[in-house]
Amino acid sequence: MEFLPRPELWSLDPRALHLNHGSYGAVPRRTQHVAGGLRSEMESNPMAWFRGLPERLAASRRRLAEYLGADPDGFALVPNASAGVTVALSAVPIAPGERIVLTDHAYGAVRYAAERAGTLRGAEVVTVPVPLEADDDELLAAVADALDDRTAVVVIDQISSATARVFPVDRVARLCRDADVPVIVDGAHAPGLIDQPIVDGADFWTGNFHKWPCAPRGTAGLFVAERWRDRTKPLITSWAEYDELPARFDQQGTGDYVPWLAAPTSLEVLEALDWPRRRSWLTTMLTEASTIVAKALGTSLPDVTTPAPTMRLVELPASVAVTSESERAALAAQASERIGAELAITAFGGRLFVRLSAHAYNSFRDYELLAERLPTLLREG
Ligand SMILES: Cc1ncc(COP(=O)(O)O)c(C=O)c1O
Repeated sequence: MEFLPRPELWSLDPRALHLNHGSYGAVPRRTQHVAGGLRSEMESNPMAWFRGLPERLAASRRRLAEYLGADPDGFALVPNASAGVTVALSAVPIAPGERIVLTDHAYGAVRYAAERAGTLRGAEVVTVPVPLEADDDELLAAVADALDDRTAVVVIDQISSATARVFPVDRVARLCRDADVPVIVDGAHAPGLIDQPIVDGADFWTGNFHKWPCAPRGTAGLFVAERWRDRTKPLITSWAEYDELPARFDQQGTGDYVPWLAAPTSLEVLEALDWPRRRSWLTTMLTEASTIVAKALGTSLPDVTTPAPTMRLVELPASVAVTSESERAALAAQASERIGAELAITAFGGRLFVRLSAHAYNSFRDYELLAERLPTLLREG
């Protein structure tokens, strides 16, 4: 069955090729409309709005937990996966001289969170190298090698950012459990891409609704295993300090909670789009589309074990002399300005990639146009 692209459900500028859903998502018109209505309600009587907020937040939080198949008693709302990881790192005991373990696929800001936790508590951050094309067994063995009696915690991606790989997180969680080491799963990309993403045996799991489920930005979940619930607190101390989790996370001072209330509308949009059947169709389409882009560039698709369903890496030619993160950002900005393409440029192991995304608003033609335009941009530099 073929699914028709539905760009009319979003308000994306049709003059651009929107090929990087993975970074900041995109909010459908219907959710924008609901969020706008909620904001008008808030501004019509802020006092009444904040009086009624706790019940509405709890209902929204329960709906989002249900979508993930999460136990609602352990599922809190946080603004983003960065906050989720930071909260989890602040909840686990880390003693001076211990180690925080992550892989070289970890998201940059998550690495910084680990570094901050390490500096505050006198612990060391240990990075486990996992080659791009390593299979699951090799990955498991690399993580297992890094565990010893000084390991305080492991932070592991569920779907990595720069390499767009699905990690065998259930196996990593079992490994950590057997070694009696807490594990934090960074599932930033998992909601919407993996059904039932909350990993059995994970001590903490966090994931974004503002990426693949298209919720308004600032909407993410944090699942906390029972044994950690008492000691897991939001980063901002507020009136709910002595409430139980998850209500403890519901209000972190005065803020704009509209995204959390409007997020379930995006889940309805996805449902109407026949997600996840559409997602598997998009996955097939993106595989073919990425091949066309790679062919136009004279490169190939790296052989990533279990690539993310709707994110693919295409290698950039070795002649593209871009090394630093700021140069990658500059190349992405050039692609936007000169060929109208919104792209994620990633790097791993000294290799450079364009990470292509596909969502319901994308058509095969988007990638054909990229294949026509990108080689010229890279040649002209
Ligand atoms: C793997 C991974 N972890 C964490 C994050 C951080 O997400 P956020 O910016 O919503 O905090 C991202 C963002 O792209 C990511 O890809």
